[in-house]
Amino acid sequence: MATHKIAVIPGDGIGTEVMHEGLRVLDRVAEIHGGVTFDYTHYEWSCEYYTRTGHMMPEDGMDRLRDTDAILLGAVGYPGVPDHISLRDLLLKIRQGFNQYVNFRPVKLLTEQDCPLKGKGPGDLDMVFVRENTEGEYAGVGGRVRQGTPEETVVQTSVFTRKNTENVMRFAFELTRKRADARRAEGLKTASKVTSVTKSNALNHSLVFWDEVFAEIGSGYPEVETDQYHVDAMSMYMIQRPEDFDVVVASNLFGDILTDLGGVLQGGLGFAAGGNLNPDRQFPSMFEPVHGSAPTIAGKGIANPIAMIWTVKLMLDFLGYSELGDLVMEAIRTVVIGKRAELTADMGGNGSTASSTDLVLSALPS
Ligand code: NAI
Ligand code: MG
Repeated sequence: MATHKIAVIPGDGIGTEVMHEGLRVLDRVAEIHGGVTFDYTHYEWSCEYYTRTGHMMPEDGMDRLRDTDAILLGAVGYPGVPDHISLRDLLLKIRQGFNQYVNFRPVKLLTEQDCPLKGKGPGDLDMVFVRENTEGEYAGVGGRVRQGTPEETVVQTSVFTRKNTENVMRFAFELTRKRADARRAEGLKTASKVTSVTKSNALNHSLVFWDEVFAEIGSGYPEVETDQYHVDAMSMYMIQRPEDFDVVVASNLFGDILTDLGGVLQGGLGFAAGGNLNPDRQFPSMFEPVHGSAPTIAGKGIANPIAMIWTVKLMLDFLGYSELGDLVMEAIRTVVIGKRAELTADMGGNGSTASSTDLVLSALPS
Protein backbone atom coordinates (compact mmCIF):
# COMPACT_ATOMS: atom_id res chain seq x y z
CA MET A 1 0.00 0.00 0.00
CA ALA A 2 1.48 3.35 -1.05
CA THR A 3 0.91 6.20 1.40
CA HIS A 4 1.20 9.83 0.41
CA LYS A 5 1.62 12.55 2.99
CA ILE A 6 -0.60 15.51 2.15
CA ALA A 7 -0.41 18.84 3.99
CA VAL A 8 -3.89 20.35 4.09
CA ILE A 9 -4.27 24.13 4.47
CA PRO A 10 -7.96 25.01 4.16
CA GLY A 11 -7.33 28.75 4.82
CA ASP A 12 -10.24 31.18 5.02
CA GLY A 13 -13.86 31.59 3.98
CA ILE A 14 -15.01 29.18 1.30
CA GLY A 15 -11.48 27.74 1.28
CA THR A 16 -12.41 25.67 4.33
CA GLU A 17 -15.78 24.68 2.84
CA VAL A 18 -14.47 23.45 -0.51
CA MET A 19 -11.46 21.73 1.08
CA HIS A 20 -13.78 19.47 3.04
CA GLU A 21 -15.40 18.38 -0.23
CA GLY A 22 -12.12 17.92 -2.08
CA LEU A 23 -10.92 15.51 0.61
CA ARG A 24 -14.13 13.49 0.39
CA VAL A 25 -13.44 12.94 -3.31
CA LEU A 26 -9.78 12.13 -2.68
CA ASP A 27 -10.71 9.53 -0.04
CA ARG A 28 -13.22 7.97 -2.41
CA VAL A 29 -10.78 7.56 -5.30
CA ALA A 30 -8.21 6.09 -2.92
CA GLU A 31 -10.82 3.45 -2.00
CA ILE A 32 -11.51 2.78 -5.69
CA HIS A 33 -7.79 2.32 -6.33
CA GLY A 34 -7.37 0.05 -3.33
CA GLY A 35 -3.58 0.36 -3.21
CA VAL A 36 -3.08 3.94 -2.07
CA THR A 37 -3.90 6.04 0.97
CA PHE A 38 -3.57 9.74 1.61
CA ASP A 39 -2.34 10.69 5.04
CA TYR A 40 -3.48 14.23 5.89
CA THR A 41 -1.89 16.71 8.26
CA HIS A 42 -4.17 19.72 8.76
CA TYR A 43 -2.77 23.20 9.31
CA GLU A 44 -4.95 26.06 10.53
CA TRP A 45 -2.79 28.75 8.90
CA SER A 46 -5.14 31.48 7.77
CA CYS A 47 -6.17 35.07 8.42
CA GLU A 48 -7.92 33.95 11.57
CA TYR A 49 -4.61 32.40 12.72
CA TYR A 50 -2.87 35.68 11.83
CA THR A 51 -5.30 37.68 13.94
CA ARG A 52 -4.53 35.41 16.89
CA THR A 53 -0.74 35.05 16.48
CA GLY A 54 0.49 37.90 14.27
CA HIS A 55 1.81 35.39 11.70
CA MET A 56 0.28 33.60 8.71
CA MET A 57 2.32 30.48 9.54
CA PRO A 58 4.65 29.59 12.43
CA GLU A 59 8.37 30.19 12.09
CA ASP A 60 9.08 26.54 11.29
CA GLY A 61 6.09 26.34 8.90
CA MET A 62 8.13 25.67 5.78
CA ASP A 63 10.06 22.89 7.57
CA ARG A 64 6.83 21.20 8.53
CA LEU A 65 5.70 21.17 4.91
CA ARG A 66 9.02 20.13 3.42
CA ASP A 67 8.65 16.36 3.82
CA THR A 68 5.16 16.07 2.44
CA ASP A 69 4.33 14.69 -1.01
CA ALA A 70 1.98 17.57 -1.83
CA ILE A 71 0.18 20.52 -0.28
CA LEU A 72 -3.54 21.13 -0.82
CA LEU A 73 -4.71 24.67 -0.18
CA GLY A 74 -8.24 26.11 -0.14
CA ALA A 75 -7.93 29.90 -0.27
CA VAL A 76 -6.56 32.61 1.98
CA GLY A 77 -7.60 36.21 2.53
CA TYR A 78 -10.24 37.79 4.70
CA PRO A 79 -11.48 41.29 5.43
CA GLY A 80 -9.52 42.73 8.34
CA VAL A 81 -6.16 41.34 7.24
CA PRO A 82 -4.52 43.20 4.32
CA ASP A 83 -4.44 41.00 1.20
CA HIS A 84 -0.73 41.63 0.64
CA ILE A 85 0.00 40.05 4.03
CA SER A 86 -2.10 36.92 3.51
CA LEU A 87 -0.74 36.47 0.01
CA ARG A 88 2.94 37.23 0.59
CA ASP A 89 3.36 35.62 4.01
CA LEU A 90 1.71 32.32 3.15
CA LEU A 91 1.06 31.65 -0.52
CA LEU A 92 4.04 33.39 -2.07
CA LYS A 93 6.29 32.16 0.70
CA ILE A 94 5.40 28.58 -0.20
CA ARG A 95 5.49 29.12 -3.99
CA GLN A 96 8.88 30.81 -3.84
CA GLY A 97 10.37 28.84 -0.93
CA PHE A 98 9.64 25.51 -2.63
CA ASN A 99 10.64 26.76 -6.08
CA GLN A 100 7.18 26.06 -7.50
CA TYR A 101 8.16 27.83 -10.68
CA VAL A 102 5.21 26.72 -12.78
CA ASN A 103 1.64 27.70 -12.06
CA PHE A 104 -0.34 25.16 -14.09
CA ARG A 105 -3.87 26.33 -14.88
CA PRO A 106 -6.13 24.48 -17.33
CA VAL A 107 -8.84 26.42 -19.14
CA LYS A 108 -11.17 23.79 -20.51
CA LEU A 109 -14.78 24.17 -21.48
CA LEU A 110 -17.01 21.21 -20.60
CA THR A 111 -20.34 22.32 -22.07
CA GLU A 112 -21.37 24.99 -24.54
CA GLN A 113 -23.82 26.52 -22.12
CA ASP A 114 -21.08 27.42 -19.62
CA CYS A 115 -19.26 29.62 -22.14
CA PRO A 116 -20.20 33.31 -22.30
CA LEU A 117 -18.91 33.44 -25.90
CA LYS A 118 -21.44 33.02 -28.71
CA GLY A 119 -21.16 29.79 -30.67
CA LYS A 120 -18.15 28.33 -28.85
CA GLY A 121 -18.23 24.75 -27.61
CA PRO A 122 -15.87 22.31 -25.87
CA GLY A 123 -13.95 21.78 -29.16
CA ASP A 124 -12.99 25.46 -29.13
CA LEU A 125 -11.66 25.90 -25.63
CA ASP A 126 -9.00 23.63 -24.21
CA MET A 127 -5.83 25.39 -23.17
CA VAL A 128 -3.36 25.21 -20.32
CA PHE A 129 -1.66 28.24 -18.91
CA VAL A 130 1.93 27.82 -17.80
CA ARG A 131 2.39 30.88 -15.63
CA GLU A 132 5.82 31.76 -14.30
CA ASN A 133 5.28 31.55 -10.58
CA THR A 134 8.27 32.59 -8.48
CA GLU A 135 9.65 35.83 -9.88
CA GLY A 136 8.71 38.30 -12.63
CA GLU A 137 6.46 41.10 -11.47
CA TYR A 138 5.72 39.30 -8.16
CA ALA A 139 9.36 38.95 -7.09
CA GLY A 140 8.74 41.31 -4.20
CA VAL A 141 11.81 43.42 -4.97
CA GLY A 142 11.46 47.11 -4.30
CA GLY A 143 10.96 49.71 -1.64
CA ARG A 144 9.18 52.79 -0.50
CA VAL A 145 10.97 55.85 0.84
CA ARG A 146 9.97 59.27 2.18
CA GLN A 147 6.58 57.86 2.97
CA GLY A 148 3.86 60.44 3.53
CA THR A 149 5.89 63.33 2.07
CA PRO A 150 5.39 64.97 -1.32
CA GLU A 151 8.68 63.32 -2.34
CA GLU A 152 7.36 59.85 -1.59
CA THR A 153 8.96 57.39 -4.02
CA VAL A 154 8.01 53.80 -4.71
CA VAL A 155 9.92 51.24 -6.75
CA GLN A 156 8.76 47.69 -7.55
CA THR A 157 11.05 45.83 -9.89
CA SER A 158 10.41 42.75 -12.00
CA VAL A 159 13.01 40.00 -11.85
CA PHE A 160 13.66 37.52 -14.65
CA THR A 161 16.51 35.04 -14.25
CA ARG A 162 17.82 33.02 -17.17
CA LYS A 163 17.69 29.72 -15.29
CA ASN A 164 14.08 30.09 -14.24
CA THR A 165 12.86 31.54 -17.54
CA GLU A 166 14.45 28.64 -19.42
CA ASN A 167 12.87 26.13 -17.03
CA VAL A 168 9.40 27.63 -17.50
CA MET A 169 9.73 27.69 -21.30
CA ARG A 170 11.03 24.12 -21.37
CA PHE A 171 8.09 22.98 -19.26
CA ALA A 172 5.69 24.64 -21.72
CA PHE A 173 7.26 22.98 -24.75
CA GLU A 174 7.36 19.54 -23.11
CA LEU A 175 3.72 19.91 -22.12
CA THR A 176 2.72 20.87 -25.66
CA ARG A 177 4.47 17.79 -26.98
CA LYS A 178 2.68 15.59 -24.41
CA ARG A 179 -0.76 17.04 -25.20
CA ALA A 180 -0.45 16.75 -28.98
CA ASP A 181 -1.79 13.21 -29.49
CA ALA A 182 -4.73 13.60 -27.13
CA ARG A 183 -5.75 16.87 -28.79
CA ARG A 184 -5.62 15.34 -32.23
CA ALA A 185 -7.73 12.40 -31.02
CA GLU A 186 -10.31 14.80 -29.56
CA GLY A 187 -10.49 16.69 -32.87
CA LEU A 188 -9.55 20.06 -31.40
CA LYS A 189 -9.20 22.83 -33.95
CA THR A 190 -5.67 23.77 -32.98
CA ALA A 191 -3.99 20.44 -32.51
CA SER A 192 -0.82 21.61 -30.86
CA LYS A 193 0.89 24.92 -30.27
CA VAL A 194 2.63 26.98 -27.63
CA THR A 195 1.83 30.69 -27.42
CA SER A 196 4.01 33.13 -25.52
CA VAL A 197 2.43 36.19 -23.92
CA THR A 198 4.70 39.20 -24.00
CA LYS A 199 4.84 43.00 -23.98
CA SER A 200 8.31 43.44 -25.35
CA ASN A 201 7.40 46.64 -27.17
CA ALA A 202 7.09 48.49 -23.84
CA LEU A 203 9.14 46.31 -21.49
CA ASN A 204 12.31 46.61 -23.49
CA HIS A 205 14.59 44.79 -21.04
CA SER A 206 12.67 42.06 -19.29
CA LEU A 207 10.30 40.93 -22.00
CA VAL A 208 12.74 41.28 -24.86
CA PHE A 209 14.78 38.79 -22.84
CA TRP A 210 11.62 36.68 -22.36
CA ASP A 211 11.09 36.57 -26.16
CA GLU A 212 14.72 35.59 -26.75
CA VAL A 213 14.54 32.70 -24.30
CA PHE A 214 11.24 31.56 -25.83
CA ALA A 215 12.90 31.43 -29.27
CA GLU A 216 16.03 29.72 -27.93
CA ILE A 217 14.18 26.96 -26.10
CA GLY A 218 11.71 26.63 -28.98
CA SER A 219 14.54 25.88 -31.41
CA GLY A 220 14.99 22.60 -29.52
CA TYR A 221 11.38 21.62 -30.37
CA PRO A 222 11.17 22.13 -34.15
CA GLU A 223 7.96 20.08 -34.42
CA VAL A 224 6.06 22.33 -31.98
CA GLU A 225 4.27 25.26 -33.58
CA THR A 226 4.74 28.61 -31.79
CA ASP A 227 3.34 32.09 -31.80
CA GLN A 228 3.46 35.11 -29.52
CA TYR A 229 1.22 38.07 -28.77
CA HIS A 230 1.41 41.16 -26.63
CA VAL A 231 -0.73 40.75 -23.53
CA ASP A 232 -3.28 43.37 -24.58
CA ALA A 233 -3.87 41.65 -27.94
CA MET A 234 -3.92 38.26 -26.20
CA SER A 235 -6.82 39.32 -23.98
CA MET A 236 -8.72 40.14 -27.16
CA TYR A 237 -7.81 36.94 -29.04
CA MET A 238 -8.78 34.72 -26.10
CA ILE A 239 -12.31 36.03 -26.59
CA GLN A 240 -12.30 36.30 -30.37
CA ARG A 241 -10.67 32.98 -31.27
CA PRO A 242 -9.98 30.84 -28.20
CA GLU A 243 -9.69 27.80 -30.49
CA ASP A 244 -6.28 29.13 -31.53
CA PHE A 245 -4.65 28.35 -28.19
CA ASP A 246 -3.26 25.18 -26.68
CA VAL A 247 -0.41 25.80 -24.22
CA VAL A 248 0.10 29.45 -23.22
CA VAL A 249 3.24 30.56 -21.40
CA ALA A 250 3.13 33.87 -19.55
CA SER A 251 4.88 35.87 -16.87
CA ASN A 252 3.55 35.91 -13.31
CA LEU A 253 1.34 39.02 -13.60
CA PHE A 254 0.11 38.41 -17.15
CA GLY A 255 -0.67 34.77 -16.35
CA ASP A 256 -2.55 35.80 -13.22
CA ILE A 257 -4.76 38.23 -15.10
CA LEU A 258 -5.40 36.07 -18.17
CA THR A 259 -6.36 33.02 -16.10
CA ASP A 260 -9.23 34.91 -14.46
CA LEU A 261 -10.40 35.65 -18.00
CA GLY A 262 -9.84 31.98 -18.83
CA GLY A 263 -11.83 30.98 -15.75
CA VAL A 264 -14.80 32.98 -16.92
CA LEU A 265 -14.59 31.56 -20.46
CA GLN A 266 -14.89 28.04 -19.06
CA GLY A 267 -17.85 28.85 -16.83
CA GLY A 268 -16.64 30.91 -13.89
CA LEU A 269 -14.22 30.83 -10.99
CA GLY A 270 -16.16 27.96 -9.48
CA PHE A 271 -14.50 25.85 -12.19
CA ALA A 272 -10.91 27.07 -12.32
CA ALA A 273 -8.25 24.77 -10.88
CA GLY A 274 -4.52 25.15 -10.48
CA GLY A 275 -1.26 23.65 -9.32
CA ASN A 276 1.93 25.35 -8.20
CA LEU A 277 4.47 22.87 -9.49
CA ASN A 278 8.06 22.16 -8.62
CA PRO A 279 8.58 20.02 -11.72
CA ASP A 280 11.99 18.84 -10.49
CA ARG A 281 10.25 17.31 -7.44
CA GLN A 282 12.93 18.60 -5.13
CA PHE A 283 10.19 20.16 -2.99
CA PRO A 284 6.47 19.47 -2.59
CA SER A 285 4.08 21.07 -5.08
CA MET A 286 0.96 22.91 -3.93
CA PHE A 287 -2.49 22.55 -5.46
CA GLU A 288 -5.18 25.22 -5.04
CA PRO A 289 -8.23 26.47 -6.89
CA VAL A 290 -7.84 29.82 -8.67
CA HIS A 291 -10.64 31.45 -6.70
CA GLY A 292 -10.22 33.24 -3.40
CA SER A 293 -12.04 32.96 -0.07
CA ALA A 294 -15.18 34.69 -1.46
CA PRO A 295 -16.23 36.37 1.84
CA THR A 296 -19.60 37.40 0.41
CA ILE A 297 -20.78 33.80 0.07
CA ALA A 298 -18.68 32.23 2.87
CA GLY A 299 -20.52 30.34 5.59
CA LYS A 300 -23.63 29.78 3.50
CA GLY A 301 -22.75 26.37 2.10
CA ILE A 302 -23.24 27.50 -1.48
CA ALA A 303 -19.67 27.67 -2.82
CA ASN A 304 -19.12 25.62 -5.93
CA PRO A 305 -16.78 22.73 -4.97
CA ILE A 306 -15.87 21.84 -8.58
CA ALA A 307 -12.75 24.06 -8.78
CA MET A 308 -11.42 22.30 -5.67
CA ILE A 309 -12.35 18.84 -6.94
CA TRP A 310 -10.68 19.60 -10.28
CA THR A 311 -7.65 20.75 -8.27
CA VAL A 312 -7.60 17.36 -6.54
CA LYS A 313 -7.54 15.79 -10.03
CA LEU A 314 -4.46 17.86 -10.91
CA MET A 315 -2.76 16.66 -7.73
CA LEU A 316 -3.58 13.03 -8.56
CA ASP A 317 -2.09 13.46 -12.05
CA PHE A 318 1.08 15.00 -10.63
CA LEU A 319 1.47 12.23 -8.03
CA GLY A 320 1.33 9.63 -10.81
CA TYR A 321 -2.33 8.56 -10.52
CA SER A 322 -3.62 9.97 -13.77
CA GLU A 323 -6.05 7.06 -14.10
CA LEU A 324 -7.70 8.35 -10.90
CA GLY A 325 -7.43 11.93 -12.16
CA ASP A 326 -9.29 10.86 -15.31
CA LEU A 327 -12.04 9.26 -13.22
CA VAL A 328 -12.51 12.50 -11.29
CA MET A 329 -12.61 14.53 -14.52
CA GLU A 330 -15.17 12.18 -16.03
CA ALA A 331 -17.34 12.46 -12.91
CA ILE A 332 -17.14 16.27 -13.06
CA ARG A 333 -18.11 16.22 -16.73
CA THR A 334 -21.05 13.88 -16.04
CA VAL A 335 -22.57 16.11 -13.37
CA VAL A 336 -21.90 19.37 -15.19
CA ILE A 337 -23.64 18.03 -18.27
CA GLY A 338 -26.40 15.98 -16.69
CA LYS A 339 -27.16 17.46 -13.27
CA ARG A 340 -26.75 21.20 -13.57
CA ALA A 341 -30.07 22.03 -11.95
CA GLU A 342 -28.80 20.31 -8.81
CA LEU A 343 -25.45 22.13 -8.72
CA THR A 344 -24.69 25.40 -6.91
CA ALA A 345 -26.27 28.79 -7.69
CA ASP A 346 -23.31 30.07 -9.75
CA MET A 347 -24.16 27.25 -12.21
CA GLY A 348 -27.83 28.10 -12.17
CA GLY A 349 -28.79 25.30 -9.81
CA ASN A 350 -30.18 25.18 -6.29
CA GLY A 351 -27.77 22.70 -4.73
CA SER A 352 -25.30 23.18 -1.89
CA THR A 353 -21.55 22.68 -1.69
CA ALA A 354 -22.10 19.29 -0.04
CA SER A 355 -24.92 18.07 -2.29
CA SER A 356 -22.90 18.99 -5.41
CA THR A 357 -20.04 16.88 -4.11
CA ASP A 358 -22.49 14.02 -3.44
CA LEU A 359 -23.37 14.13 -7.13
CA VAL A 360 -19.70 13.92 -8.13
CA LEU A 361 -19.18 11.02 -5.71
CA SER A 362 -22.13 9.13 -7.12
CA ALA A 363 -20.81 9.67 -10.67
CA LEU A 364 -17.59 7.86 -9.72
CA PRO A 365 -17.45 4.09 -10.24
CA SER A 366 -18.79 2.20 -7.21
P1 NAI B 1 -12.84 35.51 -5.03
O1 NAI B 1 -12.32 34.51 -5.99
O2 NAI B 1 -12.84 35.12 -3.62
O3 NAI B 1 -14.33 35.90 -5.48
C1 NAI B 1 -14.61 36.53 -6.73
C2 NAI B 1 -16.09 36.26 -7.13
O4 NAI B 1 -16.23 34.91 -7.54
C3 NAI B 1 -17.07 36.45 -6.00
O5 NAI B 1 -18.27 36.96 -6.54
C4 NAI B 1 -17.30 35.06 -5.48
O6 NAI B 1 -18.53 34.89 -4.84
C5 NAI B 1 -17.19 34.21 -6.76
N1 NAI B 1 -16.65 32.87 -6.47
C6 NAI B 1 -15.35 32.57 -6.26
N2 NAI B 1 -15.21 31.25 -6.01
C7 NAI B 1 -16.44 30.71 -6.06
C8 NAI B 1 -16.96 29.39 -5.89
N3 NAI B 1 -16.14 28.35 -5.60
N4 NAI B 1 -18.28 29.20 -6.01
C9 NAI B 1 -19.10 30.22 -6.31
N5 NAI B 1 -18.70 31.50 -6.49
C10 NAI B 1 -17.37 31.74 -6.36
O7 NAI B 1 -11.98 36.85 -5.25
P2 NAI B 1 -11.99 38.23 -4.45
O8 NAI B 1 -13.38 38.56 -4.02
O9 NAI B 1 -11.24 39.18 -5.28
O10 NAI B 1 -11.09 37.97 -3.16
C11 NAI B 1 -11.60 37.59 -1.88
C12 NAI B 1 -10.44 37.27 -0.96
O11 NAI B 1 -9.72 36.11 -1.46
C13 NAI B 1 -9.38 38.38 -0.88
O12 NAI B 1 -8.94 38.45 0.45
C14 NAI B 1 -8.25 37.91 -1.80
O13 NAI B 1 -7.01 38.41 -1.46
C15 NAI B 1 -8.33 36.41 -1.61
N6 NAI B 1 -7.81 35.64 -2.74
C16 NAI B 1 -7.07 34.54 -2.43
C17 NAI B 1 -6.61 33.71 -3.42
C18 NAI B 1 -5.89 32.48 -3.02
O14 NAI B 1 -5.89 32.09 -1.88
N7 NAI B 1 -5.25 31.80 -3.94
C19 NAI B 1 -6.86 33.99 -4.84
C20 NAI B 1 -7.70 35.15 -5.06
C21 NAI B 1 -8.15 35.95 -4.03
MG1 MG C 1 -5.35 35.56 -9.42
